Amino acid sequence: MATPHNEASKDQIAPIVIMPGDPLRAKMIAEKYLENYELVNQVRNMYAYTGYYKGKRVTVMGSGMGMPSIGIYSYELFQFYGVEKIIRVGSCGAYTKDLNLYDLILVNGAYSESSYAKTQNGTEGNMLYASDSMNLVIKQTAESFNFPLTIANIHSSDVFYRENNNYSELYEKYGCLAVEMESYALFHNAKICNKRAACILTVSDNLVTKMETTSEERQNSFFRMIELALESIL
Ligand code: HPA
Repeated sequence: MATPHNEASKDQIAPIVIMPGDPLRAKMIAEKYLENYELVNQVRNMYAYTGYYKGKRVTVMGSGMGMPSIGIYSYELFQFYGVEKIIRVGSCGAYTKDLNLYDLILVNGAYSESSYAKTQNGTEGNMLYASDSMNLVIKQTAESFNFPLTIANIHSSDVFYRENNNYSELYEKYGCLAVEMESYALFHNAKICNKRAACILTVSDNLVTKMETTSEERQNSFFRMIELALESIL
């Protein structure tokens, strides 16, 4: 059964989905890590591939940027495709000089001023959380591979280019160590659909030190994050 945004049939989507923002990253993950994979969605070029990682069936699908976009794709996966778990893999900007470029963050809570949850079903409150059980597995997997991991709250922002960026308030008041633009909507959809979601992020820029990643190193840290996500589903 297709949706307006996803032409895959229900049986073409695995119960576990890894979601990078960029659909070309989904393609790269499938080509590098999956066996016997097939392209199951091309609508709007939001590629989804389903294949096997070490024998485990998994779908890798782009989410696009921002909460409206991940909101559509993750809702459909949970509600119409029978998906049980989504792990978002993305990048973030650090709100503290204590985080270095390429550090890996496992998201605990996502704070947002977004109206996504309120508009969707009237939910009040600005903080939504990842699945504890998924985070525990991801944390243990990172430990077994000696991947350093910072577990933190982050800010899910609706705006990338802000005129007044008072991020120190978000850091001090809500413990947000970094900013991205998707987790709050993903966690909301998981909650209302009675499913589970987690998010692993790589620091791609630092808003305090103004440092930005180079493309080669970004690629390497991206692979570490993907390996952590894939190993955590086994
Ligand atoms: N802001 C929002 N999202 C991001 C950023 C940022 O600085 N860096 C990576 N994702």
